[in-house]
Amino acid sequence: MPKPDIAALPRHIAIIMDGNGRWAEQQGKPRIMGHRAGVESVQDIVRAARELGIGVLTLYAFSTENWKRPPLEVQALMGLLKTFLESELTTMVRNNVSLRCIGQKDRIPQEVRKVMDRVIQETAGNTGLILNLALSYGGRSEITQAVQAIARKCVDGVLSPETIDQAVLEQHLYTAGLPDPDLLIRTGGETRLSNFLLWQASYAELYFTEILWPDFRKQDLLTAILDFQKRQRRFGKTGKQAEQTHDH
Ligand code: FPP
Repeated sequence: MPKPDIAALPRHIAIIMDGNGRWAEQQGKPRIMGHRAGVESVQDIVRAARELGIGVLTLYAFSTENWKRPPLEVQALMGLLKTFLESELTTMVRNNVSLRCIGQKDRIPQEVRKVMDRVIQETAGNTGLILNLALSYGGRSEITQAVQAIARKCVDGVLSPETIDQAVLEQHLYTAGLPDPDLLIRTGGETRLSNFLLWQASYAELYFTEILWPDFRKQDLLTAILDFQKRQRRFGKTGKQAEQTHDH
């Protein structure tokens, strides 16, 4: 198996972790067992991303739409997140990983939020991989809250409408300060964005795989990165222009 070019790694990888429910169904198990198995993939992929030297790994753990799932499944997912955060804290500290979360924080149950805030705080000084969890996240609601915040600043006289540009909008997104994803992976066979990083993924290379999330492992991540490295990113320019420059 060829190895990825370490000098041309994606700085930011974002993943839609889909297929947990189907994985469980295939094995005649309840859906929640699929989510539980999915946590093992999360641990494996976080380790792989860290070892490779990826800057940011964003994982879509819970969408704004996921609140519509049966209450027991929602409860179980929140429980898994809490346990994951509690048990990973020491590993994250030891491995120089810092945690960030994007999404509607106020909708996260208080006991999960408390653990989340503690891990964020205790890992804030770490300079290695940024593990960015998207929780109660939706791209449209993210853009909407950014517009509201900007409008409020205009009303308060802090900002004037003429000075609003893309950079200002980006500063009001949950991802402020993070680079845009270069590579966006979706497991589980669907080829949709499902309201994930709508603004930030404008120029991301999209990679879809049939592999269900609980089966997705380091080797599959490397395959996705190799595929990414074969593509030429043009950012709207001609192929020749893009070869001469790397910025957009
Ligand atoms: C989609 O599979 C997956 C989710 C809605 C949740 C993802 C959560 C985890 C992997 C575990 C917890 C996360 C962390 C970061 C510890 P699906 O249920 O939609 O699968 P299906 O399409 O086969 O039904």
